[in-house]
Amino acid sequence: MSSITLIGTGNMARTIGTLAVAGGNTVEVMGRDQSKADALAKALGGGATTGTWGAIPAGDIVITALLYDGVVPVVAEYADALAGKVIVDISNPFNATFDGLAHSEETSIAQEVAKVAPASASVVKAFNTIFRNVLQKGRPNV
Ligand SMILES: NC(=O)c1ccc[n+]([C@@H]2O[C@H](COP(=O)([O-])OP(=O)(O)OC[C@H]3O[C@@H](n4cnc5c(N)ncnc54)[C@H](OP(=O)(O)O)[C@@H]3O)[C@@H](O)[C@H]2O)c1
Repeated sequence: MSSITLIGTGNMARTIGTLAVAGGNTVEVMGRDQSKADALAKALGGGATTGTWGAIPAGDIVITALLYDGVVPVVAEYADALAGKVIVDISNPFNATFDGLAHSEETSIAQEVAKVAPASASVVKAFNTIFRNVLQKGRPNV
């Protein structure tokens, strides 16, 4: 069993949170809109809790379920609150016309996260190539 904090309260937070609860993991939800975090934690059930935005997450694994342009600023805002955590970036940094990246090909959002995260944190890229509707089926055969 793992302890997981979801930062974000949207579609992917709900989908990953649902799977995490079903897998018997401890889940905490953090959102910049506390009412959305409370509502998602309640919907997830399984003892899911809410944390305070910007505070030290309860989870050892912290999933940034945010739109790509919010990921680096939010990790920078959390700063030392993420010390020692495994930070999972799930974002897809598409440009406005969805035909390329929103940043140069010399970097990635995960690399940029690693630059602003505490040195003791580990940054992982995951989930970004799996559509929510596929992921929510459980164990996609991909
Ligand atoms: N949907 C998919 O099938 C899918 C699959 C793989 C990966 N992804 C990636 O997963 C990430 C989340 O996608 P989603 O479908 O869950 O999006 P979503 O439903 O729009 O949810 C986005 C979440 O990010 C929060 N947010 C956005 N900008 C923020 C900022 N600057 N600071 C703090 N919070 C911010 C939103 O908060 P508010 O509600 O307060 O605005 C919301 O909780 C995206 O990067 C996407 O590329 C999506």
